[in-house]
Amino acid sequence: MTPEPVTGPRQRPRRLRRTPSLRRSVAETSLAPAHLVLPLFVREGIDAPVPIGSMPGVVQHTRDTLRAAVVEAAELGLGGVMLFGIPAAKDATGSGALDPGGILNVAIADAVAEVGDALPVMADLCLDEFTDHGHCGLLTAEGDVDNDATLAVYAEMARAQAAAGADVVGPSGMMDGQVAVIREALDAAGAIDVAILAYSAKYASAWYGPFREAVDSSLTGDRRTYQQDPANGSEGVREALLDVDQGADLVMVKPALGYLDVVRRVADAVPVPVAAYNVSGEYAMLEAAAAAGWIDREPAILETLTSIRRAGAQIVLSYWAAEAAALLRRH
Ligand code: PBG
Repeated sequence: MTPEPVTGPRQRPRRLRRTPSLRRSVAETSLAPAHLVLPLFVREGIDAPVPIGSMPGVVQHTRDTLRAAVVEAAELGLGGVMLFGIPAAKDATGSGALDPGGILNVAIADAVAEVGDALPVMADLCLDEFTDHGHCGLLTAEGDVDNDATLAVYAEMARAQAAAGADVVGPSGMMDGQVAVIREALDAAGAIDVAILAYSAKYASAWYGPFREAVDSSLTGDRRTYQQDPANGSEGVREALLDVDQGADLVMVKPALGYLDVVRRVADAVPVPVAAYNVSGEYAMLEAAAAAGWIDREPAILETLTSIRRAGAQIVLSYWAAEAAALLRRH
């Protein structure tokens, strides 16, 4: 039976839109600082922050300025920070990722020393920032990304990040079976409370372009043999379910804006909270249009983040997290 149309003299939806307070009271979606996670870059061997040209307002931090950014994130009540490290030297196996004195591991320890339990400290668990070929894993002699050999390195990287004090590790390399191997490694090391935020439905996307500059990536070619084909939605749901099965505490869809249908489908399918990553290219696109005077920057930022929440994301990773939190406090 088709429902009666909700139009006509009695239904006037505009009544509930008349004032800001009425609109607030019937809002279906909320956006608060706790929903936002700020990705931060920390680079070894620099003594002042280095601006990232394609991401105006975003920098590669020194260890000291990273500490300050993390403290600010805690004061703003953010849902966390996601740390990315850029080592001074890269090699074929990404050894800087495993070294307890490596830039990402020392930055995790710095961050935790500053904020303790007041702010979740998360770390990217992937090799691409540390390898000289820029891939997320080890390569075979033929140059393919070797899934199972990479898993062993991820396990060790997870132990190093847990030892440094990470609350959450974020495997983003899209190797099959990575969540299970990392969960096992953490548990065996006694790190049973370290959570896994799995980049489950991560697409091979052109929207990561500015990030490659942010981490001084040496990648030539692409990641299409391990990241997902943008054509596939059901596969994203399958990947998320596989990760839940392997012990993921949170699952992520990435990028966000072109994939809001996948965010919704994953949120409807999994029993754990869903995160979405509002990636570097999405940031750059809006910033460029705003700089040209073509869109109104602050409302566009808040509408973007609200849309990702409306699609079903509990948590949104965004380079605007700190600024948006400050805006929300003023509203
Ligand atoms: C991999 C990783 C990437 C991003 C986050 N983690 C790059 C990639 O997969 O190519 C992209 C984030 C962004 O574009 O903002 N360590």
